[in-house]
Amino acid sequence: MDFRSMFCCVKSLDGKKQGKKESTWRIFSLKELQLSTNNFNYDNKLGEGGFGSVYWGQLWDGSQIAVKRLKSWSNKAEMEFSVEVETLARVRHKNLLTLRGYCAEGQERLIVYDYMTNLSLLSHLHGQHSAECHLDWTRRMNIAIGAAEGIAYLHHHATPHIIHRDIKASNVLLDGDFKAQVADFGFAKFIPEGATHVTTRVKGTLGYLAPEYAMLGKASESCDVYSFGILLLELASGKKPLEKISSTLRRSITDWALPLARERKFDELADQKLNGKYVEEELKRVVFVGLICSHNQPEKRPTILEVLEMLKGDKEKCAALENHEMFVSTTVVDSGVEDSSEFISDEKEPKQEIENVKM
Ligand SMILES: Nc1ncnc2c1ncn2[C@@H]1O[C@H](COP(=O)(O)OP(=O)(O)OP(=O)(O)O)[C@@H](O)[C@H]1O
Ligand SMILES: [Mg+2]
Repeated sequence: MDFRSMFCCVKSLDGKKQGKKESTWRIFSLKELQLSTNNFNYDNKLGEGGFGSVYWGQLWDGSQIAVKRLKSWSNKAEMEFSVEVETLARVRHKNLLTLRGYCAEGQERLIVYDYMTNLSLLSHLHGQHSAECHLDWTRRMNIAIGAAEGIAYLHHHATPHIIHRDIKASNVLLDGDFKAQVADFGFAKFIPEGATHVTTRVKGTLGYLAPEYAMLGKASESCDVYSFGILLLELASGKKPLEKISSTLRRSITDWALPLARERKFDELADQKLNGKYVEEELKRVVFVGLICSHNQPEKRPTILEVLEMLKGDKEKCAALENHEMFVSTTVVDSGVEDSSEFISDEKEPKQEIENVKM
């Protein structure tokens, strides 16, 4: 048994109390991080993303950490890295992954986080834990609301305000109680040129990118709302943002979900792994909110604060949702989703878009 299965689905062993976050961060030495990760041993590797590999580690006090080791670093970004990480390390919220500190020695740039024992939402929806069915409906609802609260903090309360730019299932981590912790916020600014899949122009992942951001590089809070909408649909249905239907064609989750939502076919929309055990009113809310968030026109998307009100069941907002133009007619003009072709062809995707995003 490797360390990942040993620690998955049990409460964090460091005894940290939920909801109470320490307000300290520190600079780590390379030696300490080498020691805690068994010299970045392959067996400690949790995964690899666009800008480096992530390793599990344990500090001398027994607490577990995740260490992101950045690749292809250039000297010129040195100062920016430290200033930026220090800023992000001061951002504290119960639904944002806590940064414990960083290390900048020689060519090495490492970022140290709390280790999340239940890994990412991705691993439970589509990855190594998907067969275990840990995500019942109550947990999914709490994850949706928790992640929205984390994003609302970034958009409306952090100073300066932060646009995430890469909201997706692998960046929503889950602690020992399956509480959502949004990760990788605020990194877009200092991602080194040359890191795989990312550029300074467009950062993001295919399937989650708002059209105006993918095409014109216009980043705003509403791009995060778009990606969050895709995440909500994914959470409710267990489907991937883009489903491969042939070697060259992929169908987006919005194109799949909208007709079903209009016909109120919630049993077809719900993840089969839920075995019919869900609260229909809540599932409906999650699907409807997911679809209006992922509207093609940014001005028609709600703010993340409005999203939160709807997810929490605000009566007035939810009644309006039921009668929203997107869900009342089958011949609707301006759903936004309607305008997109039903399938995305690999051949038809703009080349620039593919070069700049993670697949
Ligand atoms: N603090 C953590 N605790 C547990 N697992 C983590 C932690 N941080 C990252 N991971 C996992 O490590 C893997 C790599 O993460 P990383 O952020 O580098 O890539 P990613 O999320 O797939 O893409 P991106 O580069 O866009 O963030 C992911 O599966 C992620 O869920
Ligand atoms: Mg990530």
